[in-house]
Amino acid sequence: MNPKKPSDSRTVMTDLVLPSETNPLNNLFGGELLARMDRAASITARRHSRRVAVTASVNHVAFNRSVPLGSVVTLEAAISRTFRTSMEVYIDVWMEDRVSGERTKANEAIYTFVAVDETGKPTVVPPIEPETELEKIRFDGALRRKQLSLVLAGKMKPHDATELKALFI
Ligand SMILES: CC(C)(COP(=O)(O)OP(=O)(O)OC[C@H]1O[C@@H](n2cnc3c(N)ncnc32)[C@H](O)[C@@H]1OP(=O)(O)O)[C@@H](O)C(=O)NCCC(=O)NCCS
Repeated sequence: MNPKKPSDSRTVMTDLVLPSETNPLNNLFGGELLARMDRAASITARRHSRRVAVTASVNHVAFNRSVPLGSVVTLEAAISRTFRTSMEVYIDVWMEDRVSGERTKANEAIYTFVAVDETGKPTVVPPIEPETELEKIRFDGALRRKQLSLVLAGKMKPHDATELKALFI
């Protein structure tokens, strides 16, 4: 399979925060943001693999800043690394200042998707070639995050997590 670039499948989604999507403090409800991130990441995984892609795990979410009612929120999802059938997708969340239009990073998350065929069986995805400095940094850390995710899910023995052992030994 020919390699693809992260920019080939990058997904940008801009939307408002409406009253029905907030918590009692009038900030964006966490579950609503998770759903928006899942949607953006799913489109990216589908664009890269040209297959149905299912969420296999949510590896990391940082709710660093609350997002107030009425905010304009932009999600950017990009493939950071592919393996055999799975794809790591990074989602960066930006808020836009109403007056100046300046963008501030609000949150970020890392999801893993698996491309499947019509029967739900995992299927091979094209490799990815990172281009920018940030894409290369995220690519380099992805195997470590995959192993951590598999260990936490009970799908890999800690003993076999070579990348994690290398951090401590
Ligand atoms: C995700 C799913 C397809 C994986 O199927 P599986 O039988 O475990 O298949 P495999 O063991 O071959 O794993 C497939 C790939 O997923 C990866 N994977 C599975 N679980 C993972 C996890 N928790 N974290 C990271 N990667 C994971 C495997 O490492 C493998 O990657 P690779 O082929 O790139 O090396 C299957 O568990 C599934 O369909 N889950 C439900 C998905 C869903 O409905 N999501 C929506 C939630 S409501």
